[in-house]
Amino acid sequence: MNIAFFSTQKYEQPFFERSFSKHPQIEVCYFEQALNEQTALLAKGFDAVCVFVNDTVNAVVIEQLAELGVGTILLRCAGFNNVDLVAAKAHNIKVLRVPAYSPEAVAEHCVALMLTLSRKTHKAYNRVREDNFDLNGLLGFNLHGKTVGIIGCGKIGLALCKILNGFGAHILVCDPYATPDDYTITDLDSLLTQSDIISLHCPLNEHTHHLINDDAFNKMKPGVMLINTSRGALLNSKACINALKTKKLGYLGLDVYEQESELFFKNHSDEINQDDIFSRLVSFKNVLVTGHQGFFTQEALTEIANTTLQNAQEINQGKQLTNEVL
Ligand code: NAI
Repeated sequence: MNIAFFSTQKYEQPFFERSFSKHPQIEVCYFEQALNEQTALLAKGFDAVCVFVNDTVNAVVIEQLAELGVGTILLRCAGFNNVDLVAAKAHNIKVLRVPAYSPEAVAEHCVALMLTLSRKTHKAYNRVREDNFDLNGLLGFNLHGKTVGIIGCGKIGLALCKILNGFGAHILVCDPYATPDDYTITDLDSLLTQSDIISLHCPLNEHTHHLINDDAFNKMKPGVMLINTSRGALLNSKACINALKTKKLGYLGLDVYEQESELFFKNHSDEINQDDIFSRLVSFKNVLVTGHQGFFTQEALTEIANTTLQNAQEINQGKQLTNEVL
């Protein structure tokens, strides 16, 4: 079996090489390019493509892959909103993913965003380097005793609940499939009206697209903190800007962004940013954006490489597929 890796980054290659080099029956070729209509031809002669969150795997690309004889799409991530599953099924192309590489990695990053925004450690770091020890403007708030609303309580949401329990936060969960364990399950409207902090952990699909819009902001407490480490399009970015301007939204932490495929995972520091919405968002002092790095820990990369290898081997050996996306 030979696999064309798209959107490969230098930092992940050693993890894949460590896993795949022990299995000579699987050959790998790394391309820096993202998979899309223009680059799909690179997959010529390969049995499988391996893609990440911002590769385009729509119906057109899938048709191109099918014509080239590619039979498998290996997602090296959990989310699969960028893959047209109907088209893949129609062309009998298998789609496999890495469902849980390290929910704790994303949950911990989420808490890092919460704490940075509330305690302003990013500002303190810069001040102290300038010998400025003035505390004005650095006043924070405790997570202890706050109500945190978690929308989507699967693997990452649950990992976050466990961490926040340690902080003594009161947790509200909205998830149509959650079981009432230790957490209070509630409906979306109650969560929006009662939470001091809201964190998004549901998948992006037709039901959750722009879940957080003007209407949702209207229901929230003034000065609420919103964290999105899930998928950018769960939030309507323009509604966020309005809510920031009116101070309804007091803090915004993003690890994902609706139009991130144009920006993230690359160095654009020598270019003029053409995305006016992104530029406006980062201009607010109470907004913190990281470039989709919630997953980015050694433990998670090791697990991603191992599970991707396992997925490839199951395809190669005609075994039952553990991580097929249905
Ligand atoms: P999961 O599948 O374990 O959990 C998702 C949960 O959302 C499920 O319990 C499901 O019932 C719930 N859900 C579905 N629709 C909902 C709705 N309308 N309202 C409320 N809840 C709903 O997924 P996991 O592993 O926890 O990942 C969550 C998301 O995090 C992924 O979809 C992915 O987009 C994102 N992610 C981000 C990463 C990053 O680096 N920032 C890394 C990995 C995942």
